[in-house]
Amino acid sequence: MNRIFSGIQPTGNLHLGNYLGAIRNWVGLQESFESIYCIVDLHAVTLPQDPAELRHNVREVTAGLVAAGIDAERCIVFAQSAVPGHSELAWLLGCLTPLGWLNRMTQFKEKAGKRRDAAGLGLYAYPVLMAADILVYQATHVPVGDDQKQHLELSRDIAGAFNRRFGVDFFPLPEPQIFGAATRVMSLRDGSQKMSKSDASDYSRINMTDDADAIALKIRKARTDPDPLPGTPEGLAGRAEAINLVGIYAALSGGTEDEVCAKYAGEMFSTFKADLVELAVSVLGPIGAEMQRLKGDPGYIDRILRDGAERAGAIASRTLAEVHAIMGLAA
Ligand code: AMP
Ligand code: TRP
Repeated sequence: MNRIFSGIQPTGNLHLGNYLGAIRNWVGLQESFESIYCIVDLHAVTLPQDPAELRHNVREVTAGLVAAGIDAERCIVFAQSAVPGHSELAWLLGCLTPLGWLNRMTQFKEKAGKRRDAAGLGLYAYPVLMAADILVYQATHVPVGDDQKQHLELSRDIAGAFNRRFGVDFFPLPEPQIFGAATRVMSLRDGSQKMSKSDASDYSRINMTDDADAIALKIRKARTDPDPLPGTPEGLAGRAEAINLVGIYAALSGGTEDEVCAKYAGEMFSTFKADLVELAVSVLGPIGAEMQRLKGDPGYIDRILRDGAERAGAIASRTLAEVHAIMGLAA
């Protein structure tokens, strides 16, 4: 049996990078897999969070997933902290994880910065909690962006370590599902930086809640170069902002960079951008409007989360009962 698990952090504005790099793929996967999608608030608190904002952001991300087309009846959508099994399994797996494995994690080094001794234990153990997220559902497939590949490798290693240590074939080794198109959407202001919620300039990103006017303004102001578009993607070499816009167009249209270049060969960016605005508004406009509508109905969002937590919790409890039996812990 195949089962998908993935997680998204409830930290601030969802943007086009989250949509094209993650959420859109999740929507596609729900057709062919049993899918579990988790708002990972326990991962969020590895860095300081304002409690009221955190609560708001969990609802906001849930609204984003549902507005983008995730069917919360077919899938399980829930907040990580509502299912205690994640934390418990993280402890048990942590006891099987050598420090040497964690010391290799590049995200910890980036997030901890220079003052590594001041970083929290939770930030260090972050990848073990991520392994627990996946394994508590015995998930087989995990859609992740490029940046999470290393953590997923570690999850496989931890699953293998558990199976070997206890001589069982209990946890499947989760397979990454890395998506080709637009896995990295870059800032509209600087083609060398990832589009990110933490960028100080709102012009750097298209938010999933932006209306048509905001989307149009941001694309018109997006940085480009003075050259016309080339006939093939090779002609984009060294033109980071042009590459990004062509990539966004391709991803939003469901086509390839080759097709976009063939269509706009020799055109100026002004022409291309006008079409990109129309395309972006046609894809994101309805999602943003639906998000606004859902935000006006917090009771509905809370019901989705409650129902999801109940269904997820039932699976997690069964796994933990078996893990207890395997490890000789209390029945
Ligand atoms: P984050 O907001 O960093 O927690 O990321 C949530 C999901 O969106 C992850 O799967 C990321 O890989 C994906 N993501 C975030 N920013 C981008 C981006 N600029 N381009 C593509 N995917 C992104
Ligand atoms: N760490 C992931 C991110 O920052 C989110 C995440 C948490 C996740 N648990 C997961 C992703 C389990 C996939 C599977 O994007």
